[in-house]
Amino acid sequence: MEQVRTQTLPSHGEGLHRAAQILLDGGLVAFPTETVYGLGADARDDRAVARIFAAKGRPSFNPLIVHLPDVESARGYAKFNRDAERLAEAFWPGPLTLVLPVRPRSGLSPLVTAGLDTVGVRLPAHPVARALLSAFRGPLAAPSANRSGRVSATRPEHVLEGLGGRIEAVVDGGPCDVGIESTIVGLVGQPTLLRAGGIPVEALEACLGKPLATGGDASRPSAPGQLLSHYAPAASLRLEATEAGENEVWIGFGRVPGHEGLNLSATGDLTEAAARLFHLLRLADARAKGGRIAVAPVPDRGIGRAINDRLRRAAAPRD
Ligand code: TXA
Ligand code: MG
Repeated sequence: MEQVRTQTLPSHGEGLHRAAQILLDGGLVAFPTETVYGLGADARDDRAVARIFAAKGRPSFNPLIVHLPDVESARGYAKFNRDAERLAEAFWPGPLTLVLPVRPRSGLSPLVTAGLDTVGVRLPAHPVARALLSAFRGPLAAPSANRSGRVSATRPEHVLEGLGGRIEAVVDGGPCDVGIESTIVGLVGQPTLLRAGGIPVEALEACLGKPLATGGDASRPSAPGQLLSHYAPAASLRLEATEAGENEVWIGFGRVPGHEGLNLSATGDLTEAAARLFHLLRLADARAKGGRIAVAPVPDRGIGRAINDRLRRAAAPRD
């Protein structure tokens, strides 16, 4: 892979202008969203999109989410039905991705959809992502800005750790608020949860007035990226751990008397835990030095479902 110098750009004025110019020239720019950092490229440019797959080491059968500034432009790439309109109205801009039929002659690179007849569209809420989209004036294909299969990036330094020397720039917007990727809902046929994420399933079901089907068969993923092993640190993981064993680095949740180690949220706040998850996995990984990380149980409600989904995949056997 060709080495480039990765610039860190400020998240305003001249920095964003520069970032938009790099994207227009077919370059790769990582940028903050409210969920995690995305690795952006012009979604209409085959060469630029191909470079995303190369930089991440991502399998080419795994499609990319298209990031857009507003609902009108999203309707230009995807066909919205009533459920899609409802969800977009209630949760956009925000951490929700809708998988919808792609419009013929959308102008998107076929690499973005990996040859499927659907496309994932999302309107990020982060002011820097929105400012970049309006400076760029086009669709941005952006997977999470990490090496394929590894822990997602919620800070610019995480991006540089994995992708430094492989991408032209990262826009520094500090840490991401939500900390966990967007919820993905498939709306071709029955509304289906394809990935738990920043918007709790309970809220989506309340909005639609019906339950979401689950597409979570990991051996036959309906979202090709829903592979069982994902978000993996170098260390192995032990889940539902009530205490750390010898030679384990512990990640707690809630008040743990007498324990000063890493903690997702000392007050047991799931929103705080989501925001800290990937950062703590990275810290624990550095401390574990290839050994083992033990993670406390996290309640499986609201955004806790997305946290547990990420932890299960991080702990899954790797091949
Ligand atoms: O919060 C997020 O969604 C972040 C930020 C950067 O926006 N992006 C992100 O992208 O998490 P990525 O590529 O790491 O995960 C996208 C997931 C993958 O599992 C992919 O398979 C799935 O979305 N996906 C994308 N397009 C799809 C489609 N047409 N049908 C089914 N799954 C799709
Ligand atoms: Mg990802």
